Amino acid sequence: MNFKNILVEKNSALAQITINRPKKLNALNKATIEELHDAFKALEDDSDIKTIIIIGSGDKAFVAGADISEFAHFSVEEGARLAKAGQEILFDFVENLSTPVIAAINGFALGGGLELAMACHFRIASDNAKMGLPEVSLGVIPGYGGTQRLPQLVGKGKAMEMIMTAGMITAEDAKHAGLVNHITSQEELLPLAEKLAGKIARNSSVAISAAITAVNANFQDGIKGFDIEIEAFGDCFGTEDFKEGTTAFLEKRKPIFPGRNS
Ligand code: COA
Repeated sequence: MNFKNILVEKNSALAQITINRPKKLNALNKATIEELHDAFKALEDDSDIKTIIIIGSGDKAFVAGADISEFAHFSVEEGARLAKAGQEILFDFVENLSTPVIAAINGFALGGGLELAMACHFRIASDNAKMGLPEVSLGVIPGYGGTQRLPQLVGKGKAMEMIMTAGMITAEDAKHAGLVNHITSQEELLPLAEKLAGKIARNSSVAISAAITAVNANFQDGIKGFDIEIEAFGDCFGTEDFKEGTTAFLEKRKPIFPGRNS
């Protein structure tokens, strides 16, 4: 895969995507969003890959937002199209990937940057990270899912405050609010992400994929998450991974999951 704005590296079961526009603090322009979609799709289709880590290049930013220079002159219709297309091809797409995605927030995660991190399955941050949704300071609102996912993660009141003040919170505040799961030094951020990815890779990728579907169902309108859980739970019993997992337990050995449904 040939990309101009991102780097993709694979190391056995782990893939790392680095957003690589450091001079623009990794701001998400259209081309970067499209490249990210293509990279995530290719990694999702690669059965060897069990976890994807996403990080920003340089030591200053994860992503400082959507690229403001691209939409400053947009009309009402163009604005709506921008949000819809972005949500579909990147933000919802990442949230619903069956391969776990960890956001390693290594600096500013603002606007679309925080929205991208929030679309990932979970987040860790370096101690210099700063997070916020500053859109109302530009006269617009978060459009890549921020008004929906931030309240899911931190609660309505905290989300309202962050969105209305357009302020940034520290990594410490973000951990306290439940926005990130762990904080480390900058040097230890990738090693921690890799350690967590290693733990994930030891488990059944088929069951993990079912778990992602069931957890996400909790946040979808018109869908009863408990019903999705029952169905997905039952489906697991028909998988090779389930046979291997339970057999290995009874034989007192570590499982070697084939990562297959049947
Ligand atoms: N879109 C486009 N370009 C951006 C950007 C964005 N969201 N965020 C940063 N950049 C660019 C700057 O324009 C600058 O480019 P230049 O050197 O060609 O002028 C470069 O990245 C470095 O940014 P700069 O503002 O000089 O760095 P800083 O350390 O002084 O400030 C921030 C860092 C993150 C506080 C500041 O860049 C900022 O507020 N960015 C916008 C954040 C935002 O509102 N995001 C939501 C967008 S919806």
